[in-house]
Amino acid sequence: MDNKMKHKQKILLTRRLHNFALNELKRKYDVTVHSGKIPIPKKILMRKVQDKDGLICFPYDIIDSDIIKSGKKLKCISTYSVGFDHIDIKFAKKRKIRIGYTPEVLTDATADLTVALILDLLRRVSEGDRVIRSGNWKEIFGAYDYVGTDIKGKTIGILGMGRIGKAVAKRMYPFGAKIIYHSRNSLPKTEEKSLHAKFVTLNTLFKASDILSIHLPYSKETHEIVNKNMIRKMKKSSFIINTSRGKIINENDLTNSLKRERISGAALDVFSNEPIGKKHPLNKMNNVVLVPHIGSSTKETRKKMAEITVMNLKLGLDGKKLLYSV
Ligand code: DGY
Repeated sequence: MDNKMKHKQKILLTRRLHNFALNELKRKYDVTVHSGKIPIPKKILMRKVQDKDGLICFPYDIIDSDIIKSGKKLKCISTYSVGFDHIDIKFAKKRKIRIGYTPEVLTDATADLTVALILDLLRRVSEGDRVIRSGNWKEIFGAYDYVGTDIKGKTIGILGMGRIGKAVAKRMYPFGAKIIYHSRNSLPKTEEKSLHAKFVTLNTLFKASDILSIHLPYSKETHEIVNKNMIRKMKKSSFIINTSRGKIINENDLTNSLKRERISGAALDVFSNEPIGKKHPLNKMNNVVLVPHIGSSTKETRKKMAEITVMNLKLGLDGKKLLYSV
């Protein structure tokens, strides 16, 4: 090892990032990239983080107090995600570790996916695709064949009116939908007016929504906030869309409610335990659209996320203010 290398700070990535990001990191740091099982097993992460100054992680890596304790030299944790529920923030902060994340840049991509899921579910696009591919399209244009639901005139209920919730409201209003929302705090009146959105109680949101779209961060408070008791309040004709975090919904309750047709359908980008396998009960249901956690997954957005992840880490390791810090 030459002298220069000796003085380089050490960083660990729990998985590969874009080449441009890796190259940039390698110019400045002694970089280790985990290349085995994903997510990196806890024991391996505990061992690999021991001598590292910085850590780049992903939203499924559980960065709990054991990992943070093992990383005795850690100064910065930079996550390639807007969600940071996978990191024990309180514990990391106690140890004066800076934590970076990637909000803003993925708002539009996630809102676009939400709209795509709403359209897909209500107009039965994926279901129709499955009908054709399985050779089951036998007759054309029957009055009741594959009929969907109009969006115009429907009430969209947004649970969590942060950046992504607002971006969904902006996109859905031009469809002719009525927008209601529930959040920890109501928005200023001028913002409500520009979004054409009305604050309602949580109960009213569940009762009045034709389409309930979830945009909450995951926390102890939001854990399984959507459960059988809340779903019971919903209209039988209503739909649930989730592009936030899987554990905000009690998945068993949702599955049973869909089976019993207590609601009409669901479109999900996120699940309690990801990835879900072929045998997952939701896989067998026609009134469900499933996608593999792709809210932020456009090439433009993922590139920006990588840039911010790298920038946050560099700033954190230089002892400077992060671009986006928790
Ligand atoms: C995030 O960044 O937290 C999202 O889940 C990505 O889609």
